[in-house]
Amino acid sequence: MSINLVTEVVTNRFLSGDTFLLDVKFNEKPSPGQFVMLSMVDGRTDPYLPRPISVFDWNDGVLSLIIKVVGRGTELLSKIRPGEKLRVVGHLGNKFPDTEGTVFYVGGGIGIAPLFYTAKMSKASKKVFFLGFKDEASVIAKEMFEKIGEVILCTDDGSCGIAGYPHAALAKKMETGEVPDLVCTCGPEIMMESVHRIISQNEKIAVCHSLEARMGCGIGACLGCRIETKGGNYLVCKDGPVFDGKDIF
Ligand SMILES: Cc1cc2nc3c(=O)[nH]c(=O)nc-3n(C[C@H](O)[C@H](O)[C@H](O)COP(=O)(O)OP(=O)(O)OC[C@H]3O[C@@H](n4cnc5c(N)ncnc54)[C@H](O)[C@@H]3O)c2cc1C
Ligand code: FES
Repeated sequence: MSINLVTEVVTNRFLSGDTFLLDVKFNEKPSPGQFVMLSMVDGRTDPYLPRPISVFDWNDGVLSLIIKVVGRGTELLSKIRPGEKLRVVGHLGNKFPDTEGTVFYVGGGIGIAPLFYTAKMSKASKKVFFLGFKDEASVIAKEMFEKIGEVILCTDDGSCGIAGYPHAALAKKMETGEVPDLVCTCGPEIMMESVHRIISQNEKIAVCHSLEARMGCGIGACLGCRIETKGGNYLVCKDGPVFDGKDIF
C-alpha cells in the first residue's frame, strides 16, 4: 500500500564524501526494489518536485535510504537533521523477482541502493554481489552486503578490490562455471547493458534491471518518466522501476 505522510528523521550521516544514509520513521513495509518520493515540508517551493529514492533497507518501522548529492534536492536532504520532518510518499513501483536458487546482484555506484533490501528479503540459497565504485573513497555499505552474501568489489582505478567494472567480474565468475538463476542489476545504463549482453548468451538465466528516469509524481499521472524501449513505451514509476531485460535491451 502506498501512503503519503509527514514523518520524522531518525538519523542522517555521510558514508563517503558525497553519499549519505538517511533513516526515517516509516511503518509500511516496502517490497524489494520499490522506491519512495521525498520532499521538504518547510514551505519551500524550490525544488518544487519530490525526489525518487530507492528503498535501501527497512527494519521495524524505520526506512533507510542511501542518497548521493547531485543537485539542489539531494543537497537539502543531506542537511536535514534528526527530529526534523520530511514528506515521504510510497512505497511505489513494482519489485524485483526472486528465486530459491543462485542470484547475482550487480550494482554500480549509487545503483547498489535497491539491491541490499532486495537480497536481504530474497529466499535465494546463494547470493553474490558485484559492486562497482569509482575508487576506494567512494565505496559504501560493503560490510552490510558482506553480512548476507559474497561480495566481489570492483573499482574503476583499482584502488580497492578488483580493477575494472562489475560486469567484467561477473563474466569471469561465470567462466569458472558458476551460473546464476537470476541476475538483478541497477546502475549506469552501460553497465546494465553489458550485464545483459553477457547473460543473454544463456537463455535459462533471467535478468532484471532497475531503471532511473526524471520523475514528477511517481504514480503514473504526469507522464514525466516515460521511456521508449524495444519492448514498448513504459512509465518507469508505474510499470517499473524494475524491468525484464528482454524488454529493455
Ligand atoms: C526509481 C528511482 C530510484 C532512485 N534511487 C536513488 C537512490 O536510492 N539514491 C540516490 O542517490 N538517487 C536515486 N535516484 C536518483 C535521484 O532521484 C536523483 O539523483 C535526484 O532526484 C536528483 O535530485 P537533485 O535535486 O539533487 O538534482 P537535480 O538538481 O534535479 O539534478 C542534478 C543532476 O542530476 C541529474 N539527475 C537528476 N535526477 C536524475 C535521475 N533520476 N537519473 C539520472 N540523472 C538524474 C540531472 O540531470 C542533473 O544533471 C533514483 C531515481 C529513480 C527514478
Ligand atoms: S513520474 Fe509521473 S508518470 Fe512517472
